[in-house]
Formats: sequence, C-alpha cells, structure tokens
Amino acid sequence: MIKLDDFLAHDAVDPRLTALIASVVEACGQISALVRRGAAGEILGALESQNVQGEVQKKLDVISNEILLQRCAEAPGLVAMASEEMDDIYPVREVGPEGGYLLLFDPLDGSSNIDVNVSIGTIFSILPAPRADGPRPAATADFMQSGRNQVAAGYVVYGPQTTLVLSLGNGVRAFTLDPLNDEWVPTAHAITIPHETKEYAINASNLRHWATPVRSYVEACLAGEEGPRGKNFNMRWIASMVADVHRIMVRGGVFLYPWDAREPDRAGKLRLMYEANPMSMLVEQAGGAAFDGQGHILDAEVTSLHQRISVMLGSRAEVEHLMALHAEATGV
Ligand code: AHG
Ligand code: MN
Ligand code: MN
Repeated sequence: MIKLDDFLAHDAVDPRLTALIASVVEACGQISALVRRGAAGEILGALESQNVQGEVQKKLDVISNEILLQRCAEAPGLVAMASEEMDDIYPVREVGPEGGYLLLFDPLDGSSNIDVNVSIGTIFSILPAPRADGPRPAATADFMQSGRNQVAAGYVVYGPQTTLVLSLGNGVRAFTLDPLNDEWVPTAHAITIPHETKEYAINASNLRHWATPVRSYVEACLAGEEGPRGKNFNMRWIASMVADVHRIMVRGGVFLYPWDAREPDRAGKLRLMYEANPMSMLVEQAGGAAFDGQGHILDAEVTSLHQRISVMLGSRAEVEHLMALHAEATGV
C-alpha cells in the first residue's frame, strides 16, 4: 500500500525497524481518515476522563491511542509502547537476547484544535529495547534512555495535506499521503531548516510568567528594526506543536514553549519523551537546534516517563541567540 516501504528498506538496516515504522505510518493513515470525517464520523468532543497529566481527554486522543496500540502491537520486534495518554507502559513482548524496539507516541497533538478544524498531528519516537540474557517482562526503566538513543523519530501532520516527516538518523524526509490512491508519496528527500529566521512562535499570553531571557528575547523581536536585533519579526502560534514545527521544517523559524512561573515546579508544559525528544531529533537532523534553557534537549536527563521540559527549537542561529541570552542570565 505504501511506496514508503522502499525508502524504509533502504534506510533502516533492521527489517524489524522498517516494519515497525510502516505500522506506525499505517495507523496514522487510519487516524488521518478519521480526522477528515470530523463531525460526520462522530469523533469530535471531549470525554469525562483525564490523562496522567490531568488534562481532559478528547475522543480523538483516545481513539488515536487505540489505533496506534492495535496496529503496532503486531509489528515484529516491538517490545513495549508508551503514550502520553496512558499512565503506564504497554508491554507487547518480553525483553530478551534479540533486543528489539520501544515505541513512544503523542497519539494526537494539538487536541484543542480538533473541534475547530485546525491542523493536528501524531508524534512518535523509537528507542532500542535493551537486550537481556533470559526473557523478562518489559519495564518502565527500559524507557529511561537519552533522546540521543532514538533510532527513529517522526510526526504526521493532519492539515490541508497529511504529511509524514521522518528521520532515521541520516537526515529528514517527507512523504505526503495522496488521497487519490492512499499512497505515501515521497515529497522531500533532505529537509534543511534555514539557519536564520525572522519568525517566532510562542503563546504570548504567558508573557508575564516567563523567565527574564525569554522575555528579553520576545521584547527584542517585538521592538523590530528599532530594537537591538535591528530587524522586524513575524509571529505565528497554531497551538499544535506538530503544525508549528512543520512550518519551521518548511521555511524556518523558532518555536518556544518555555518554563514559566504559572507552576514554578513544573519544568515546562511539553513532554520530553513524546514531544520534545522526537521533535528535537528531527530538528537537529534538519540542521536546526533544540534547547531547554540549560542544554541540548537530546542530552536532557530522563527521570520519568511523563516528565516535562522547557522547549526552544528551530533555526540554529536563533536558538544559539536564545542560548546566549540564557548564559548571560545565569552568568555562565
Ligand atoms: P497535546 O494536544 O498533545 O496535549 O499538546 C498540545 C501542546 C502543543 O501541541 C502546543 O504547542 C501546546 O500544547 C499549546 O498550548 P497552549 O494552549 O498553552 O498554547
Ligand atoms: Mn502534544
Ligand atoms: Mn496529545
């Protein structure tokens, strides 16, 4: 069904990895079809349940999660899954000498946009499963791996077009789902993010809660030509990380969801394992950078499955400017 197979077979050394990615992409094709049905498919609206983060679940959050679980559980070599929408890991096979893979996902990113017909997406990350002498059940501790260990990362944006953006650690490719024949057509072979940009994305309603370096950064953007940056900036905020990052993949820019003082003990809003790590791998592979206020996101220490992190990523020169502002503030 998917022309994508040929590319995966070429790029991924292990056929089990190829098969797993193909399963994720098939699941996303199914989610895309549901998204397009919208209200006609009775998939809009909220449920009474909450996820582990205390966020109200939308119907489509739960449906997308189920589709990914069902499709991917059949993939050979998949040991366990973890999702933003599930408290605990979802074991599939035992950990053993043959290794295999761990799949993590944000099944539906941009939930607040589902009911208003604005772009949403799915984000995924694949880590190697540990090898063990004797078979043993998969454990949460198996997932506690640095973002640098990711063997693949990708997202699918369900917008006016359904587009897959994927990296296996050797660049970033894009495929567009052709609704005429349900095929994923290769549409970009080596995405590179322009180093320089005049476009930033941040939820400015939180301005009063930001830390000094982020506030100084945005104030300088707002000051335009007359300010310290000496150039005018443009701003976008879609409220779907997938859609904001996709714009950056296409024409550059910087995306920020930084720590803020609304909940000072919370590291940030976005989730390291399901959002920040896969997006940071994609951005770095496309020549950009991803920073959490202290260091590269991919180097962040992993302490729990659902941990949050401050996120600033995109065009390299802009992220480096943010790094310098943070270094000045801490006197490093
Ligand atoms: P999710 O729908 O998976 O919970 O993620 C939503 C995230 C991210 O996609 C987006 O950038 C951000 O939340 C929007 O947050 P605000 O509503 O605070 O702007
Ligand atoms: Mn999300
Ligand atoms: Mn989500």
